[in-house]
Amino acid sequence: MKATELHARASSDFAAKLVRSQDLLRQAARDFAPLTQASSLGAEDMVISHLIEQMQLHIPIFVLDTGKLHSETLALLELLRAQYQTPITVYRPLGESVVRFVAREGHEAMFKSVGLRKACCEIRKVEPLARALAGQRAWITGLRRDQADSRTAVGEIEQPEHTSAKPVKFNPLAAWSWGDVWHFIASEQVPYNPLHNSFYPSIGCAPCTRAISAGEDLRAGRWWWESEATKECGLHTSQHARNQVAHA
Ligand code: ADX
Ligand code: SF4
Repeated sequence: MKATELHARASSDFAAKLVRSQDLLRQAARDFAPLTQASSLGAEDMVISHLIEQMQLHIPIFVLDTGKLHSETLALLELLRAQYQTPITVYRPLGESVVRFVAREGHEAMFKSVGLRKACCEIRKVEPLARALAGQRAWITGLRRDQADSRTAVGEIEQPEHTSAKPVKFNPLAAWSWGDVWHFIASEQVPYNPLHNSFYPSIGCAPCTRAISAGEDLRAGRWWWESEATKECGLHTSQHARNQVAHA
């Protein structure tokens, strides 16, 4: 069954949420240039890219291609390039770091320990992220509060924790439900990753993502062998509440 048929269900206040998200994107584009959208090509990110395109905000997108993405995700990247005007930059890990890590720890290192899993994420995601964000005043992500217990405090606008040199993070879908995301995708015919039709709500690297079963939470398929407490890859810290700044 298609994810659009399965999940699309707008909240009663969806129209207001949509207006708020559009306002946030407009504010980000107006006051925080240069800025960029971080896209994993997941459902939320496709919604945001669609809004940016619709509103002609000219916010470029970046994708971190870890070298471990599903072929479906890479195919969607090409579709995005073909259908949208927005420029897309792909950041890849440093070849030398990957080769050294794999030679030392093997291709299955992520399953050996949390430390090795995080080392892999560091090389394949966190270091490339630093390059993607260099010189940016803001970045836009698809984080939502109801994605996980660790995200219940995600703010719409978050200041970096330690340094003013880091960009401000905008999470324009922070208040959206999963049903809202799919309502928008269905009504606007936004392209999406076909893995979502196979019970993959949250899609990361292929070795570290599996389908979920009925009743499991949306991120249960990510690093499923780890405990809830370690399940972040370093792209996002958990200081959401502290970092939130006042609404514009
Ligand atoms: S993760 O930290 O566990 O990987 P998740 O997959 O939920 O995060 O994605 C949250 C947000 O992080 C996405 O909406 C997107 O903005 C950003 N993000 C995650 N993975 C990538 C990626 N590979 N490339 C660019 N941005 C990404
Ligand atoms: Fe490596 Fe898995 Fe992290 Fe991807 S999600 S960078 S494969 S440990």
